[in-house]
Amino acid sequence: MSKYSISPTGEKFPLPEQEDYSREFKRLEEVVKNQRASGREIVLVMGLGFVGAVMAAVVADATDEKGNPTKFVIGMQRPSTRSFWKIPLLNRGISPVSSEDPKVPLLIDRCVNEKRTLTATFIYDALKLADVVVVDVQCDYLKESLGNVRNGHADMEALEESLEIIGQNISPRTLVLIETTVAPGTTEQVAYPIIKKMLRKRGIESEPLLAHSYERVMPGRNYVASIRDFWRVCSGVNDESTQKVVKFLNEVLNTEKFPLTVLDRPIESETAKIVENSFRATILAFLDEWSHFSEQNGVDLIKVINAIKVRPTHSNMIFPGPGIGGYCLPKDGGLGLWAYRHIHGFEDDIFKITPLAVDINDTRSLHVAQLTRDALRNMGRPIASAEILVLGASYREDVGDTRYSGSELIVRRLTEMGAELRVHDPYVLHWWEFEKQDEYPASSHSLKRFFRGQEKLKDLRVEQDLKKALHGADAVIFAVRHKHYLSLDPDEIVKYANGPIAVIDCFGILDDEKIKRYFQLGCEVKGLGRGHVKRIKDRVREAK
Ligand SMILES: NC(=O)c1ccc[n+]([C@@H]2O[C@H](COP(=O)([O-])OP(=O)(O)OC[C@H]3O[C@@H](n4cnc5c(N)ncnc54)[C@H](O)[C@@H]3O)[C@@H](O)[C@H]2O)c1
Repeated sequence: MSKYSISPTGEKFPLPEQEDYSREFKRLEEVVKNQRASGREIVLVMGLGFVGAVMAAVVADATDEKGNPTKFVIGMQRPSTRSFWKIPLLNRGISPVSSEDPKVPLLIDRCVNEKRTLTATFIYDALKLADVVVVDVQCDYLKESLGNVRNGHADMEALEESLEIIGQNISPRTLVLIETTVAPGTTEQVAYPIIKKMLRKRGIESEPLLAHSYERVMPGRNYVASIRDFWRVCSGVNDESTQKVVKFLNEVLNTEKFPLTVLDRPIESETAKIVENSFRATILAFLDEWSHFSEQNGVDLIKVINAIKVRPTHSNMIFPGPGIGGYCLPKDGGLGLWAYRHIHGFEDDIFKITPLAVDINDTRSLHVAQLTRDALRNMGRPIASAEILVLGASYREDVGDTRYSGSELIVRRLTEMGAELRVHDPYVLHWWEFEKQDEYPASSHSLKRFFRGQEKLKDLRVEQDLKKALHGADAVIFAVRHKHYLSLDPDEIVKYANGPIAVIDCFGILDDEKIKRYFQLGCEVKGLGRGHVKRIKDRVREAK
């Protein structure tokens, strides 16, 4: 019986059969022959996820001074039931990732259908044809408890498997560029030995050509620019690798405006990525305690931050919202801690701030459940069996990426407390962390294991119609700053909900006028870091 891979829109693609593999290799050989004849370099991007899919298109779009394409790109993706659908979609010129950047679908369509410089495949043999291999597979950090990043480990399985397969297939002159965020030391102490061993098994004694350059991509309104028009850091394991990676990045990225930083060793490039993200995780976590302070002392933290930010030295202060999700910030600090012990062999415990920041960020969203409970209580409604609508499933505004979003923990905690949850998100068709909660983000690693009563969440579906989602709700939680939510009118919300409702603002989405109006309409309002709402409530009550 054939197995299928189902795309987010529900289209079913049968997984390839044995005979499809040789046919696919012949197809690629033919295309590559023609592309080489046109003077193009062959680049294989391994892993067509949030990073790889768009990176592949950026490389395929590269041209020389005369505007002629210089690269032909093969996007390679495992034919798993979870991900195979990305290949046939991409080969039609359709982006496998959704985002608010209109350039993403245009770029992919242009490279596949007009320039014909991009194709996708499921076969590892394609590696044999590549001059450059860009590795964009995941390297996870799996946590064993909630709010304790020290209790976990790096999951290098996909990366190590990819590196072995690369070593078994590439030509010795192929540059392997690891873009995956890895535990510092991985390129030299894990990837290099794997590739070296695999080459040796094939009787090849030459030094692997291997480099690291991390991605700073931000899937969102500036998705494409965050890859192409952005600064990069890189480093190779030897001089030739460094020269090759510098040449490659200069040819595909806008390095004239956004110059490269070349570091001496890959461990420095790897560390730069981990420190960069740990720094951001730390400045976000730092505000958690001031958010609680604000709620308890009549302070609006949003206004406080805006007042401070005018000072140029403090302009990167940002409000943390309901927990810090996304694929990177929750895990990258963990990769650093883990590397210190398990790659470099140190026994002492030097890390204080990085793990504390990750732990604070990982549990911040639980407080939203308390605010919701309290707001409902003030309205005389028990949390048990209350109908609660969460607006936004993504981890950040204007993207359809739900990985480690604060909203997931809000849904889980409130479900545990007996509430009935609904969710709306204009960018998310399926919230796999619930629909397939036994597999996401990895089997037996769903966050569901930290909460009771989670089974029914398999049936949670993302509502696209806001009016329908609001109908009869007892509470609404503004969890993400999607542009759709910024201008929602309190009168309409109350009308669609069929009466006063508890409103929880997790991201400074409501201005004081709106908060006032909600109170006038008989609603209860609470917000993360928004202690001043009580003052607005008192004023509305006095005026009555
Ligand atoms: N998403 C972001 O915003 C972001 C930003 C900066 C850096 N990064 C880093 O980039 C890397 C990739 O992240 P992502 O968000 O694209 O992950 P992802 O999970 O969306 O994509 C990884 C892809 O690799 C595929 N894959 C795994 N093993 C494979 C194999 N052996 N052969 C072929 N394909 C394979 C997976 O099926 C998946 O499609 C990570 O290290 C991440 O930390 C991500």
